[in-house]
Amino acid sequence: MTMQHRLISSPLQGFTTFRFRNAFHQFFDGMDIFYAPYIRFNGKMEIKSVYQRDLLAKNNTGLTIIPQVMTCSADEFIFAANYVLSLGYKELNWNLGCPYPMVTNRGMGSGLIANPDKIDRILDRVHTATDIIVSMKMRMGYDHRDEILGAFPILEKYPIKSIGIHARIGKQLYKGGVDLEGFQQCIDNTSQKLYFNGDITTVTRFEEMTNRFPSIDHWMLGRGLIADPFLPSMIKNKTHDYPENRIEVFSKYHDTLFTAFEQKLTGEKAVIRKMLSYWEYFATTFPNAKREIKKLTKVKTFEDYDEAVKRVLDCEVEMA
Ligand SMILES: Cc1cc2nc3c(=O)[nH]c(=O)nc-3n(C[C@H](O)[C@H](O)[C@H](O)COP(=O)(O)O)c2cc1C
Repeated sequence: MTMQHRLISSPLQGFTTFRFRNAFHQFFDGMDIFYAPYIRFNGKMEIKSVYQRDLLAKNNTGLTIIPQVMTCSADEFIFAANYVLSLGYKELNWNLGCPYPMVTNRGMGSGLIANPDKIDRILDRVHTATDIIVSMKMRMGYDHRDEILGAFPILEKYPIKSIGIHARIGKQLYKGGVDLEGFQQCIDNTSQKLYFNGDITTVTRFEEMTNRFPSIDHWMLGRGLIADPFLPSMIKNKTHDYPENRIEVFSKYHDTLFTAFEQKLTGEKAVIRKMLSYWEYFATTFPNAKREIKKLTKVKTFEDYDEAVKRVLDCEVEMA
C-alpha cells in the first residue's frame, strides 16, 4: 500500500493568517492542516485581538486549524491552552523554532531547545493543569544540531502528539541548506512522531525528501506554499505540471487576497506594501517576468499596481 502523505501549512507570522488561508482555500486544495502563526504574550496575560480574530471559527470555515503559542512560561502556556480550548480547539502547538535574537535571548523559540529542564517543568505543569493536546515545532538547536538530542528524553515522558522539525539550527536563521543528516539523527533518536519541515518548494524536492525519509508521512510547507499555491495539489496529484488555466486561477486568487487586505488596511500604500511582501515569494515562480516584477515593486498607487500585475501575468502567459 502506498503511504498517505499529509501536508501541513507551516505558519508564517504576517503571511499565513486567516485572510491568506481563506483565499487559498477558495481556489486551491491539497493542504490538510494549517498551523496558525504563534500567539505571543508581551508581558500581559491576555490574548491580543489580532490573534483572537485569526482563530475564531467564523474566520476559518472549512479549514483544519491548529493554534500555536510561543512562550517560555508555563502560566502563559496554560492561559493560551485554556483560551484555545474555549474556542473548541483540542491541540496547541508549541514553537521552539523561532531563531530571532529578540526571542532566543529571552529563552524562547529555538533558544529553549538547549534547556531540557525548563521544557520539562513547563510540559509537566501544562499536562497537569489542562487537557490540551500538545504538539511541538522545533529547530534542531540554536547553536548546534545536537541540542535537540538532549531534549528528546524529556519529551518521551509526555504524550506529545507530534514534533515538526525545521531541519536547521537557530543561528543559521534561514541561511544555508537544511541539514538532512541532522534530521536523520532526530529520526534515529526518538520514538516521537516527527514531521519534516524545510525548503520544500517544488514537487521534485518533495519527492527527493519522501525517498530520503521513507518513515515520514507529514510534511510542512512554509515559504513554498506562499510562493506557489499550486504546490500542494501538484504534490498530491503527483504531477510536475501546472493546470492549463494557471494564470487565470492565480489572478483570481491574487485579487481575492488583495480585496481582503484592502478591507483590512488603511491607505493604498499599506495594501501595496502587504501585497509586495507576498510578491517576494510569488516572484520565485514567475521567472520569465523578472523585469516586470522589478517595476511592480516600485508602484505607489492602486492603478499602477493593477497595471504592473497585469504585465507580470501577461508576460507569463506569452512565455507559456
Ligand atoms: C516571515 C516568517 C514568519 C514565520 N513565522 C512563524 C511562526 O509564526 N511560527 C512558526 O512556527 N514558524 C514560523 N516561521 C517558520 C516557518 O514556519 C518554517 O518553519 C520555515 O520557514 C521553514 O520552512 P519552509 O522552508 O517550508 O519555509 C516563519 C518563517 C518566516 C520566513
